[in-house]
Amino acid sequence: MTARTTARTGRGERARFVAAHTLPALVRGFVNARPGAARGHAGPGRPRWSAATLRALRERHGGAPVLVRGLGGTVLLILDPQDMRQFYAEPVGSLALPATGTDGCAHTGFRVERRAVDDSVLATGQSVHPSCGAFLSVLADEARRLTAGGSLEPARVRYVVARAARRIVLGDAAAEDVELGRRPGRSHDRAGARIAAYADLAEPHTLVGRARRHTDSLGRPDGLGPDQVGQVRQWLAAFDLVPGVLLRTLLLLGAHPAEQDAVAAEARAAGSARGAAPGALPRMRACVRESLRLYPTVPDLIRTTRAETEWRGVRHPAGTRVLLPVLFHQRDPDHVPAAHVFVPGRWASREADRDVRMAPFGHAGGRCPGEQLGLLVTAALCAEVLRGHRVRPVRPLLDPLGPLPAALDPQNIRLRLTRR
Ligand code: HEM
Repeated sequence: MTARTTARTGRGERARFVAAHTLPALVRGFVNARPGAARGHAGPGRPRWSAATLRALRERHGGAPVLVRGLGGTVLLILDPQDMRQFYAEPVGSLALPATGTDGCAHTGFRVERRAVDDSVLATGQSVHPSCGAFLSVLADEARRLTAGGSLEPARVRYVVARAARRIVLGDAAAEDVELGRRPGRSHDRAGARIAAYADLAEPHTLVGRARRHTDSLGRPDGLGPDQVGQVRQWLAAFDLVPGVLLRTLLLLGAHPAEQDAVAAEARAAGSARGAAPGALPRMRACVRESLRLYPTVPDLIRTTRAETEWRGVRHPAGTRVLLPVLFHQRDPDHVPAAHVFVPGRWASREADRDVRMAPFGHAGGRCPGEQLGLLVTAALCAEVLRGHRVRPVRPLLDPLGPLPAALDPQNIRLRLTRR
């Protein structure tokens, strides 16, 4: 087949794209993730998306992938669901993920080893983690601090989630050690030494305790993998996403009182003997997923090709960076019904989880191994709040009929709690 030429953006389009899209994506750290941060876990404070620019590009180029030149280099932009399928179908070996190591090490063997430990320890794919009982006790214990003041302040939510994360990852001995989450520097190195010390004390149900029992393909125990402290840091950093997701979910439930009552009833049933498996909370998890559809914590996925690849009949050399603007697609009214409205019921079917238009945790080989654990923790904390309290938004005030705002900075969310 003769290779065709790919659409390239013109100068005006390029300037708009750089201003509204590429720059924020690169600044967020997709290409050079900060050491210790989980790949794709870039923290709060997202810039706004340029949905109008992307839609205009898609119309102009008939939906085909477009090469755009930004400040960080050229990327091939995926604008149509047809090409999203190919993006996810390409094996991770040929469409490489950004670096995951604290040293920026991205070589395949390293990632494969680390991923095997992730999958085993985080119980990827099991909706209820094997340590669920112990984790729910930690979360119930920590959640008492959340509801103590009659309101939900972002700083308190961050503090509570970070404490819970240290107990889940490393055990109760690490609960108070706030230095563990610090950025590189002298305290970062000291914290690394203490992570190793906590690992020796970790209870068997913790992530580190489970990692110690992980076995390699030959059945040998292989502990925490090739970069033990780095991997623990990545797990701790991944929990930094939870406060923002929790605040946005509760804000959305504050604007949808009927849904809030339904998930509160589910939370109370889960606390009694009558309930389904504790921690399953399907209705609450659907609300968390829907909040992530509207406000994904990872609004772009980026890969680099390892070999020549073909997109719609056009060949691109190895080393091409391919960008999938997840937020744009999840809120694309041309392909997603009621795109700008909170509709948790859309997650009720199993197909929704495999629908490439929705990718709050990604799909296929790069999909988040901590998805079920992240959902368990976020849903359980929301349930702890709603079991005994009604949540009312103080700010911002959302119109339940939509369209919902394009971005919601969790830092600006204030919620009042009243007893049920
Ligand atoms: C609500 C919470 C979370 C969200 C929204 C989330 C989302 C994501 C996304 C979108 C990716 C990138 C997928 C891709 O590039 O295709 C990712 C990767 C990853 N996540 Fe999460 N995540 C969450 C919680 C967690 C937790 C709790 C952990 C571990 C304790 C975790 C561990 C990881 C790891 C290790 C990767 C890299 C996987 C790889 O390189 O194969 N995540 N996550």
